[in-house]
Amino acid sequence: MDTTLISVLVAGKTTVARDTVCFEFTPMSGTALPAYAPGAHIDVHLPGGLIRPYSLLDAGAEAPPARYRIAVLRETASRGGSVALHDRVRVGDILQVTAPRNRFPLVPAAHSVLFAGGIGVTPLWCMGQRLLAQGASFALHYSSRTAARAAFLADIRQGFAGHAHCYFDDQPDRALDVAAILAGCPADTQAYICGPAGYIDAVQSRVRAAGLAADRIHIEQFALDAADRPAITATDVAFQVQLDSTGEIFDIPADESITSALDRQGVFIPVSCEEGICGTCLTGLKGGIPDHRDTYLTDEEHAANDQFMPCCSRAKTPLLILDL
Ligand code: FES
Repeated sequence: MDTTLISVLVAGKTTVARDTVCFEFTPMSGTALPAYAPGAHIDVHLPGGLIRPYSLLDAGAEAPPARYRIAVLRETASRGGSVALHDRVRVGDILQVTAPRNRFPLVPAAHSVLFAGGIGVTPLWCMGQRLLAQGASFALHYSSRTAARAAFLADIRQGFAGHAHCYFDDQPDRALDVAAILAGCPADTQAYICGPAGYIDAVQSRVRAAGLAADRIHIEQFALDAADRPAITATDVAFQVQLDSTGEIFDIPADESITSALDRQGVFIPVSCEEGICGTCLTGLKGGIPDHRDTYLTDEEHAANDQFMPCCSRAKTPLLILDL
C-alpha cells in the first residue's frame, strides 16, 4: 500500500448542504496530483493527528487532476475527524493526504444501480458522472433525512435527470423499494451501496433478497455501527510483538490495541478507521498466528496469515513477528 503523503493546499471550503462542507484541495507549486478512478478515496491527515478517509467527488481525470474535492458531514457523535475538518481547517491551510486508493471500482455491466444513503452519495455521484459520460445505463437512488441535508441535490437532479431518484425521510409517501428497482433490471446488473452502516445493512439485505449475486454487490463503508466494531474484551490476554527488521520485542497489554501500544513505545503504524475496515494499518506478518478481527481482508487472506490489521486484530500465539 502506498502511504506516501502529498501536501495539498486547501483552495476551497463551501457549504453544500446542512452540516456538509465541500473541500477543494489543489497541488502545491511544482507538483501534480495522482489520477484516480470513480470510487477512489484519499486519507486526509487532520489537525490533532487523526487520519480519515474521504471519497473523491469528481469523475476522475486520466491526466493529473487539477484538484481533489471531498464532502464532509459534520458528525458530532463520531470520533472527531469531521469536526476537526469543519472547525479547524481553513482556505489557505496546507494538509497532507495519501494518494487515492480504490476498493470500490466500477465494473463494466449492462446496467448499474447506485444506492446512496446521506453523505454516502459522494463516491456514487463520482461514478454516476463517469457512467453518464460513457453513455452507460445506470440509476442513482439517493436517500436522505431531508432535502436540506442532501449534498449536491440540485446538481444531481439536474445532471442526472432521468437517472436520479430521491427519497427523504420527511416525505415517506415515496420510499425506496429495492425489490421493485431490481425487478426491472437486466441480468447483467451491478449494485453499489454507500452510506451509514444501518443503511448499508438494510439495502444490502434487500438487494440479496432480490436475487442479485454477492459478486454483483459492491459496498463502500467508512464506519461500523457501535455493536459491530471489533472490541477488546475481558477474555483478551497480553502478548508480544517483534519487529522483524530489528528484532526488538514489545509488550502488548491485554487491554490495549497493538497500534496504540506500539505508538506509546515509539513505533508508529498509521491508522485511520481503527475498526478494521479501511486497510490503512495493513501490516505484513512474518511469524505467529493472528486473531483476525477486521473486515477489510477476505477469508482467504485471513487464512494465509501473512498480513493483518494491527488496529483491531490480536494474537493467538504469545508472539507475533511483524514485517516492520
Ligand atoms: Fe483502518 Fe486498521 S486503521 S483497518
